[in-house]
Amino acid sequence: MLNFLMRQTVRILFGPGKSGMVGELVKSLDKKKVFIATDKGIVQAGIAERIVASVKKAGLDHVLFDQIQPDAPAKFAEEGYKVLKDAGCDSVIALGGGSTIDTTKAINLLRFNDGPILKYTEGPPAWASVKAAPGLIAIPTTAGTGSEMSDGVIIADDNHLKKTILSPLVMPEYSILDAELLVGVPPHILASTGLDALSHCVEGYLSNLAAEITDMICLAGAASIIKWLPVAFNDPKDIESRSQLMAASALGGWMLANVHCNSGHSIAHVLGSVFGLPHGFGCAYAMPPVTEFNAPVIPERTKKVGELFGLKFSGNESPGEIGRKVKEAMVHFRDVTLKLKKAKEFKFDPARFGEAAGLVLKEAFQLFNFRDMDQKQALALIEEIYA
Ligand SMILES: [Fe+2]
Repeated sequence: MLNFLMRQTVRILFGPGKSGMVGELVKSLDKKKVFIATDKGIVQAGIAERIVASVKKAGLDHVLFDQIQPDAPAKFAEEGYKVLKDAGCDSVIALGGGSTIDTTKAINLLRFNDGPILKYTEGPPAWASVKAAPGLIAIPTTAGTGSEMSDGVIIADDNHLKKTILSPLVMPEYSILDAELLVGVPPHILASTGLDALSHCVEGYLSNLAAEITDMICLAGAASIIKWLPVAFNDPKDIESRSQLMAASALGGWMLANVHCNSGHSIAHVLGSVFGLPHGFGCAYAMPPVTEFNAPVIPERTKKVGELFGLKFSGNESPGEIGRKVKEAMVHFRDVTLKLKKAKEFKFDPARFGEAAGLVLKEAFQLFNFRDMDQKQALALIEEIYA
């Protein structure tokens, strides 16, 4: 019998062109001056201009902060907050991909709480007296991160080590999901971010927090991405597929806030920290071998994921065979259907694999993996990714 508690607090404005309504939305909240956080690529693509035009049309003042960097270094959260405070802004828009939304969540948290921001990555003790951070509007420009719906903030310290804040207090108040913003995203970015979204749904289903109700959502989100990501990848202007991806990515983000991810994300975060591997690619490379690794303890769940990729099972397969078949189907989708480049084409150093394996075991999402992992096993997974 179904028996559950679910949380979804983000108010969603969904539809092609809806980002043009953001000015009216801010005005309706009785705010006067909005801080718009983004990166230089979004400015160059002309997307920031559209948001600024909407804000101006509503008669509001604004400050455009375009300094946010990939991998979300924490110092840009501190810098952004200083700009916001000096300008006297009373509301915040996060415009961009995962790093931008995460950094802006951190900026918004600092509006209501003392810094430094990294102290909130240290776990529950730092949260004892933390106040909620309302007033954030997220406008994603990729369909992948899910950060617009999640309780997560992944930011990097000065040593590029990725740190995690997990708390419902950081969640956006509104998210505007506009598929028109995905037109012009290069195919390899569309593919890698889409595989990030897929990994949120698949790893959510293969998380030890999974429940019957989250299973329904994770499986629907994963099926939709497997169907629509190749369509969007092959048609640079198709809005229907991009809308479907935006919706599925939001479902994945919602599930991040409920069941989190498994060791696939632990490995992706560590490869991002140690070798600078972009997050979507890290997830795309980690999900297949981690799914195979977990198959011996959750064969039926693994089989269900394989069916989403079109696999058929006779019922006589061993858990190991199920894991191998599902891994191969995922790799085919990634490398053949979406033509993703290989992990070894990115910068890496095998001499640091041991250090990376040690970090994987300490990473936050490791807690939610069905199967315990030791350092030797983490090392073998990393070696397989770069083989
Ligand atoms: Fe992710």
